[in-house]
Amino acid sequence: MPEILLAKSAGYCFGVKRATQMAFEAADEHEDICSLGPIIHSPQLVKRLEGQGVRVVDAVGAVENEAVIIRSHGITAGELDELKKKQVTIVDATCPFVKKAQEHAARLNGEGYHLVLVGEEEHPEVQGIISYAEKDRVHVVANVEQAEALPRFSRLAVIAQTTQAFDNFRDIIAVCLTKARELRVYNTICDATSVRQKEARDIASRVELMLVVGGYNSANTTRLAAICREIQPRTHHVETADDLDPAWFAGVVRVGVTAGASTPDWLIEQVLERIEEVGEK
Ligand code: F3S
Repeated sequence: MPEILLAKSAGYCFGVKRATQMAFEAADEHEDICSLGPIIHSPQLVKRLEGQGVRVVDAVGAVENEAVIIRSHGITAGELDELKKKQVTIVDATCPFVKKAQEHAARLNGEGYHLVLVGEEEHPEVQGIISYAEKDRVHVVANVEQAEALPRFSRLAVIAQTTQAFDNFRDIIAVCLTKARELRVYNTICDATSVRQKEARDIASRVELMLVVGGYNSANTTRLAAICREIQPRTHHVETADDLDPAWFAGVVRVGVTAGASTPDWLIEQVLERIEEVGEK
């Protein structure tokens, strides 16, 4: 059987773990309940929650007279207001690190700063954070080129989407220094992602086969697989144990396993068991 190197950081980050726990607890407590979007990008977990009565709705308008769970990357201030108006029970599972970024946006906007948010404009977390500042005073910037295209400001503040790469954030801050007389920076990056990526790189360099477990619709799992593949071309992104192909294991002495932030522990366990079965053949 090949030796298995399992990443310590594989699977749920703090915020996702907290959100899933809150969702299962809320499902026990409330008969009528929904989540605003899938709780995490794991079809298997979403299915389990559905089994507990949690239906997924895609917009606030679709929330009926029921409890509603807000997922870890949060919602916009407008959506939150709408939910409050509906007077439904709100189970707010927004990750505290995302909440912090939302609070910075609201406060800095209130203090008269223009805000640069380093991140991907379309991401729901970014949409949530920028909704706490006035539209014409917030600028979402994904890279140095976009930062260079910004005009000059008298007072500027910079924050980041929690999953941003530190180097990109630092390089954009350097450009922003040339754009304003006063610059304030809050490092709102959460290091769960970079810790997981660093460990994955390390393991991928020590094995003949690398498996990355997580939803095919999970951006962070796909990114993790791409990082591993650069180091070990024999890298496979699998969603469940059934996706493993015994042919992959030919001549493999050591196999590495990691998983994205939205991969439940039980799916990782099943993959480990499957590796053992395949290895014994
Ligand atoms: Fe929160 Fe960081 Fe996870 S911001 S949701 S703990 S990646």
